[in-house]
Amino acid sequence: MKVLVATEKPFAKVAVDGIRKEVEAAGYELALLEKYTDKQQLLDAVADADAIIIRSDIVDAEVIAAAKQLKIVVRAGAGYDNVDLEAATKAGVCVMNTPGQNSNAVAELALGMMVFAARNLYNGTSGTELKEKRLGIHAYGNVGRNVARIAKGFGMEVYAYDAFCPAEVIEKDGVKALTSVEELYETCQVVSLHIPATAETKNSINYALLNRMPKGALLVNTARKEVINEAEIVTLMEDRADFKYMTDIMPANHAEMQEKFPGRYFATPKKMGAQTAEANINAGIAAAKQIVDFVQNGNERFRVNR
Ligand code: 3PG
Repeated sequence: MKVLVATEKPFAKVAVDGIRKEVEAAGYELALLEKYTDKQQLLDAVADADAIIIRSDIVDAEVIAAAKQLKIVVRAGAGYDNVDLEAATKAGVCVMNTPGQNSNAVAELALGMMVFAARNLYNGTSGTELKEKRLGIHAYGNVGRNVARIAKGFGMEVYAYDAFCPAEVIEKDGVKALTSVEELYETCQVVSLHIPATAETKNSINYALLNRMPKGALLVNTARKEVINEAEIVTLMEDRADFKYMTDIMPANHAEMQEKFPGRYFATPKKMGAQTAEANINAGIAAAKQIVDFVQNGNERFRVNR
């Protein structure tokens, strides 16, 4: 049984050590493919893998076809839009994620980006505070909940909208549940995105929605770049000098955004929300454990394809 860790963006070493321990304790072999630059390297590495642990690495139909012995792919993290679920299901491959394991790390970065924007990208000028500002959490999943918890510590007024999470669950956390996405954007000066990239959400954060935000608006994206309508956010920021956009997922039009909106736009060079030793350990070891439990006991609790 061979478990391949294929991470273009590697885990912290301490996490890899933890994964190795789990895998070897089960009597399996661990293979590592880190920082690969070419898809062919991934295609070669998966050839004799029974299980693969990935992050945002693309596992498409070609990768699945090249992995003749593959039984399970675990995305060490939350979003699995990088895996071709249909191809995996057709090939009889189980796909799982590790929900919640990296969510505090992402939430801390979201709050960090809010402070960074409120203090004018730390340029020494007088900024604003988060206290008493209205924060809108767009989708109340594992990351959204952590953002709410931390934001309350900052003294923010926290609101959330989630199409699937019942209002009672949101309100139990002391967060005001709103009944429409439009209401969330109209109410809140700061919006933090936590929606997955799906056919329904792609391009959904558009001019009409963002323009509902009150004056001094800030959008923080630690979710996915695909959910943003990139052309329309440019037009919006041209029309509204008060609008700021901080993102952990560099958009395709990064150069244009940087040139047009200095001081109001920032993107990390590489998605780093989950780039902490703790998140790597939590998600990486959970992935290894889920593989062992799947192979030994058939546990499919975190399966995302059927
Ligand atoms: C996730 O979906 O878990 C986050 O976006 C983190 O992605 P990463 O593992 O590529 O950093």
